[in-house]
Amino acid sequence: MTTRSLLLLPGDGIGPDIMAEVQKLIDWMNTNLDAGFTTEEGLVGGSAYDAHGVAISDEDMAKAMAADAVLFGAVGGPKWDDVPYEARPEAGLLRLRKDMELFANLRPAICYPALSDSSSLRKHLIEGLDILIVRELTGGVYFGEPKEITDLGNGQKRAVDTQVYDTFEIERIAGVAFELARTRDNRVCSMEKRNVMKSGVLWNEVVTEIHGRKYSDVKLDHMLADAGGMQLVREPKQFDVIVTDNLFGDMLSDVAAMLTGSLGMLPSASLGAPDAATGKRKALYEPVHGSAPDIAGEGKANPIAMIASFAMCLRYSFNMIDEADRIEKAISNVLESGKRTADIMADDSTQISTGQMGDAIVIQMAALSP
Ligand code: IPM
Ligand code: MG
Repeated sequence: MTTRSLLLLPGDGIGPDIMAEVQKLIDWMNTNLDAGFTTEEGLVGGSAYDAHGVAISDEDMAKAMAADAVLFGAVGGPKWDDVPYEARPEAGLLRLRKDMELFANLRPAICYPALSDSSSLRKHLIEGLDILIVRELTGGVYFGEPKEITDLGNGQKRAVDTQVYDTFEIERIAGVAFELARTRDNRVCSMEKRNVMKSGVLWNEVVTEIHGRKYSDVKLDHMLADAGGMQLVREPKQFDVIVTDNLFGDMLSDVAAMLTGSLGMLPSASLGAPDAATGKRKALYEPVHGSAPDIAGEGKANPIAMIASFAMCLRYSFNMIDEADRIEKAISNVLESGKRTADIMADDSTQISTGQMGDAIVIQMAALSP
């Protein structure tokens, strides 16, 4: 029988609440579909700091490197506001991304029909929305050196972050965007700030070059990232795949997420390059939303983004396309039936808890499975 190894890193805040709902699905799939998932757990973020004094231990890092895929909940919370910068909860996530070389972050923003009234935009603008943001995840200003605050000695300090991209980094993320576009509506919009930034000039050049050389069947547009942000809220359905750098991708994906009604709905996949020998990619799957410490442990968190991240894991790490489709359909059916967690409540809906949402999705999954 196949075994599929998963490392679960629930993290902080609502992380454990939503991970528990994925565990239900894993158990169900093992029992009913012989899926052969094996799971280990590790600590990341504030919970790792409390236990080990670091945002992720070397031991848990090694487990992440060895697993077929990592499922990540969320990190952070006011409890850790004063820990040293190097050990802040987010540092655990950034180390995972960097050490596992997860350069490609896929953030789909789809609007479930049942939620088309929950968006901050008018219904006709977001009904049927299906865009994919491909965010570069291991370069740019997140990791560029120098990154420091120096004392200028005259009562002033100077803070420096470095935005830096090499050709190969832009080429490989553009390649991912073009390949994925071919499986969708075959259109890519690349966003940068070439009017102000040298990294934007190179970004634009490299994307254009690789497009001409390898992907000229895909329709390519370029947009300045600020204009891109404006277009995302003006007419989001004009986009198919958006490819952009680490920082712009961070901001634009939050904007895109909110268009769909709630930040609690959106999954993401972070992928490395295929291994030369096995073809397997290192991978981490996480919801786009954060740790929401104010509602942790109260049964109020929406587990859908986490569960949809698990569906992405089935799709991209295990090639279990039918099963991934079924989970996504199960989520959609539960929403259609009017069951909602607090964040997406509407007048004619029934409010349910985190656990009840997980149960409802498992029941739908069972109903949809042969
Ligand atoms: C995200 C988050 C992270 C980021 C934080 C938690 C470091 O906002 O995944 O979008 O900035 O990349
Ligand atoms: Mg973000």
